Parts: sequence; C-alpha cells; structure tokens
Amino acid sequence: MKRILTGLQPSGTLHVGNYFGAIRPMVDLQGQGEVFLFLADLHALTSTRDAAELRQYTREAAIDLLACGLDPARTVFWRQSDVALHAELMWILSTVTPKALMERAVAYKDKVQKGLPADVGLFTYPILQAADILLYDADLVPVGKDQMQHLEMTRDIAIKINETYGEGTLKLPEAQVSEEVAVVPGLDGQKMSKSYGNTVVLFGDEKTTRKRVMSIVTDSTPLEAPKDPSGSTVVALYKLFASKEDVARMEDEHRAGGVGYGTFKQRLFEAMWEFFAPMRARREELLARPDYVNDVLRDGAARAREVGERTMARVRAAVGID
Ligand code: ADP
Ligand code: TRP
Repeated sequence: MKRILTGLQPSGTLHVGNYFGAIRPMVDLQGQGEVFLFLADLHALTSTRDAAELRQYTREAAIDLLACGLDPARTVFWRQSDVALHAELMWILSTVTPKALMERAVAYKDKVQKGLPADVGLFTYPILQAADILLYDADLVPVGKDQMQHLEMTRDIAIKINETYGEGTLKLPEAQVSEEVAVVPGLDGQKMSKSYGNTVVLFGDEKTTRKRVMSIVTDSTPLEAPKDPSGSTVVALYKLFASKEDVARMEDEHRAGGVGYGTFKQRLFEAMWEFFAPMRARREELLARPDYVNDVLRDGAARAREVGERTMARVRAAVGID
C-alpha cells in the first residue's frame, strides 16, 4: 500500500476554496492508501507572529478537518510541532543542501515580494518541507501546482543525502498533482484566497455567510434583461453545490431574463448552507468535546513518531550521530 502524505498550513480560517481544493481531495484519498496528514504549524510560523492566532488557527483546522470527514481511524493525523523529529531531520538535510538550490525557490521570492520579512526560516522553508516528507518514507505527495518546485527540491535533497551517505538512506517521493481540481472563485471573481479577502469561510454563522454570498460582485444588467451565465461567479459557485438540473435551470433563467442576481445569490446560499449542514452538525459535536480533539492529535503524533523514529535511526546511523 502506498503511503500518501501531505501537510496543511494553519494560517487562516478554512474557506470554501480550501474545502474543494484541498480538504475534500484529502478526505477522498482515505482508503486509497495509507494517508498521513499533518498541520504544518512550524511552517506557519514564517507568516504568523501572533501566538494566540496560531493556536486558534491550528485548533480550528483540526476541528474543521475532522468535521469534513477526516477519519483518524484510517488516517495518521498530527500537529507537526508535536513531533520534534521534523526539526532534527531538517538540520541534517540542511547540511547537504546547496544554498543555490534555495535561491531558486519561486515561493520564497513571491512571499518576500508580497511583504513577508526575508528571514532565514522563510528561506529554508523548503528544507523543513523536505524533512516532513522524507521523515515518513512517503511514496506520494498530493500538492497543488504551486508546490511542485518544493517537491523537486525534496527529491534533490534526498538524492544528495543518498549520494553522500549511501543509497537507501532516504526514499524518493513522487508528487501527485491533481489537474482536475478547479480553482474556486471568490466573491470578486478572482481565485478565492484569504490574501484577497474574498472568501466565504467554511463554518461561518448563517447571517454572516448569507451576507457574504449576497455581496458577490455581479454586473449591472437589469433584472428583466438576459444575463450571461458563463461569466457569472454565482453560477460557478452554484455548480459546486447544486444538482445538474438545478444548475441548468439557473443558467436558463440567466439567458431568459426576468430574474435578478439577488434571487440567484439567495438560491446559492441555500444550496451551500444545505451542502455543509452534516459537516456543521459534526463540528458542533466536536466543539463540545475538546478532549476528543486533543486525544486524536496526541494519538496521531504517537503513530507518526513511531514511523519517523525508524527513519531517523537509519539517518543517524548513516551520518554518524547514532
Ligand atoms: P489561501 O489562498 O487562502 O491562502 P492556501 O494557500 O493556504 O489558501 O491553500 C491551502 C490549500 O487550499 C492548498 O492546497 C490550495 O491549493 C487550496 N486552495 C486555496 N484556495 C483555493 C481555491 N480558490 N480553489 C481551489 N483550491 C484552493
Ligand atoms: N508548503 C505547503 C503549502 O503551503 C504545506 C506543507 C508543509 C506541505 N509541509 C508539507 C505539503 C509537506 C506537502 C508535504 O501548501
């Protein structure tokens, strides 16, 4: 059975784009392999400087993922910082990583350009990511296109270790890029992203969520006039939640005219609210059982540590610190 591993940075409240782009694909992988999923809070430190905020995002992400169907009986689910081996392996990897390799990192340059401080931690972020992956002998790493380069770097670093300390010291992982995961549009029609302030959060209250949906930007075509469904953010979002028939009906009503955007948005809200209802109910249960969530993360960390220790025993022996 293949080991499939991925990490999610707890750097904001999860939104509808995260659900369709990351959470649902991960939940669907359960059963297709041995799934390892962790909350990359050490990585999040490169962008979050507020302890209370990081704590809250990490906890929220754990609860939201469990509510969305992450099953701890089938998936090893833990918080990165609970397994100190990630940091230990990172150091060893950094001793063979050419600085020039990091200098080619596109994500680092992007983040600095967007205003993040050019700290060493941000610079060596890909080495920590390599450690996350190599520590568990992962076979497959499902990631978005933006993470491809980090996966290439992970392989380069593993090759360097194997060349230096012997073949078989570390296992080379493969990236699994899902082309079919569509980009979910935000309220303004751009990609939904916390950095653009155009998100609908997954588990907002009813009033706020309705207000967000009603604020979707539309053109100023009058109610009576025909409208173009292909350019409509409302239709694009509705497709995620409604049946084919309901989507076809909304598209026909766009073309026919006589129905305003307000009505379409209202219908989108209803469909979205209903879609997430079972997950919302599960989340309410989880919120009432804080100890359960702690237990899940603690057990997950113990299972992860056991696997990680085996790799580290191999690595420590290979480099001479056993
Ligand atoms: P954000 O853009 O809000 O900062 P992240 O970069 O933290 O989100 O993304 C976390 C995960 O969610 C990644 O796997 C990313 O590909 C996915 N994701 C984020 N926004 C979208 C979106 N609008 N459509 C599809 N997937 C998304
Ligand atoms: N860098 C990834 C992102 O921003 C998160 C991440 C950290 C990760 N460690 C990982 C993803 C290991 C896959 C494997 O989305």
